[in-house]
Amino acid sequence: MTARTLDGVHVAGQRVLLRADLNVPIRDGRISDLTRIERLSPTIRELADGGARVIVCSHFDRPKGKRVPTMSLAPMAQALGEVLGQAVAFADDCIGPEAQDAVAAMADGDVLVLENTRFHAGEEANDPAFARGLAALADLYVNDAFSAAHRAHASTEGVAHLLPAYAGRMMQAELDALDAALGSPARPVCAIVGGSKVSTKLELLGNLSGRVDVLVIGGAMANTFLAAQGTAVGKSLQEADMHATARDILAEANRAGCEIVLPTDAVVAREFRANPPTEVVSVQAIPSDAMMLDVGPATVQALQDRLPDIRTLVWNGPLGAFETPPFDVATTALAHAVAEATSQGALRSVAGGGDTVSALRHAGVLDRLSYVSTAGGAFLEWLEGKTLPGVAALETPVP
Ligand code: 3PG
Repeated sequence: MTARTLDGVHVAGQRVLLRADLNVPIRDGRISDLTRIERLSPTIRELADGGARVIVCSHFDRPKGKRVPTMSLAPMAQALGEVLGQAVAFADDCIGPEAQDAVAAMADGDVLVLENTRFHAGEEANDPAFARGLAALADLYVNDAFSAAHRAHASTEGVAHLLPAYAGRMMQAELDALDAALGSPARPVCAIVGGSKVSTKLELLGNLSGRVDVLVIGGAMANTFLAAQGTAVGKSLQEADMHATARDILAEANRAGCEIVLPTDAVVAREFRANPPTEVVSVQAIPSDAMMLDVGPATVQALQDRLPDIRTLVWNGPLGAFETPPFDVATTALAHAVAEATSQGALRSVAGGGDTVSALRHAGVLDRLSYVSTAGGAFLEWLEGKTLPGVAALETPVP
C-alpha cells in the first residue's frame, strides 16, 4: 500500500472534501443495501471527531451531465445521517454558490453532502474548471471510493491533483486487502472466477492465469471452456465464438504453470426457472436437450477438499445461476467452506464484484471472509491488473 493515508494528518478546523461512493442500490424507491454507506462511517467519524468539516461528494447513477431529480443524493444524505447518528446537511449543487454557502455555514465536526457530481458534464469529462470548483470548497481531499477509482473523473482524479490528497480508511482497507490477495500473497493462491461470459472477463482471466497457482472457472463461462475442449454441453449458455480464445487462455495458463480447474459434474435442467426437475450428470454426459445451471456436488466437494492447501483465495462470480433456486446450492456450499477455512485462520479470502457480494450475502457469510469488496467495475479492473486512476492520484506527491 503506497497511497497516502490519514495517519498523522491534521484535520481540526480543516474543510475536507470526501469522495464517497453513494451509488447505492435502490429498490422500489428505497435504498436496498446500506453497506457502502455503513463502511464510510469510520472515515467520517475520524474526520468529524477530529474537528474537520466533512464535505461529502459522490456520483449516483448515470445522469450524463444533466440534473435528473430521481438521481438526487438527498435520500443518501438522510441515510448517512441515520448511520452516523448525527445531522447531515445537504447542498443542492456540488460546485458554485449553493455549495459554497453550505460549506460556509458549517462548524467543525459538521457533515454536509453535496448534490450528485454527475449532474455536471465536467465530472465525467474530468474538466479542470469543474475540478477547480470542487477544490475551491476544501483544504484537503480524501478519497474513500475505491469502487469509483477506475473512473478518471474530476471528483475521483482531477481534484486529487489540486489539494493535498489522501486515502480514506475504507480505501486503505480495500487496498491493503487487495495487495495481500494478489500483490504479495501467501501461496498457493487460488482464484475462482464465475459469471456468464468469457468475453467480459478475458483480460481478467489472462492476468490471473499469470499470477495465481490455481484458477477455478465456474458459471456459464465454464460451459464455453468445456465446449472449446470438445465436450458436448447441450443447450447450456455458452459463447461459441469464444472457443479459440478459451483454448488460448488454457494454453497460456499451462505455460505459466497455472492449473485450470473446470467442473467435472453439473446440475442440469430442461428449462430455466425456479425449481424445475433437475439431474446431476457428469459434464461428459450432458443431455442434448438440457442445460447446465450449476456445478455439481462432486465438483464442489473437490474444491472443498483443496481448500486446506490454499493460503489465499480471490473470488469473483458465482458458480451457478444462484439467483434461481436450486442453482444456488454449489455457490452457497463453497461459500460456507471458504468462510469456515477463513475463520480457522488458515485462509485469506477476498471476494468482490456485484453478483459475488449478493451470492455471499445469500449464503449468509458476507462477514466471514477476510474482505469483501463492494466494488464492481473497479474490482474487475483491479483483477485485470490495471492501474486505477483514482488510486494512482493518491500516490503522487502532495502538492
Ligand atoms: C459502481 O457502483 O460500480 C461505481 O459507483 C461506479 O459506477 P459507474 O459504473 O456508473 O461509474
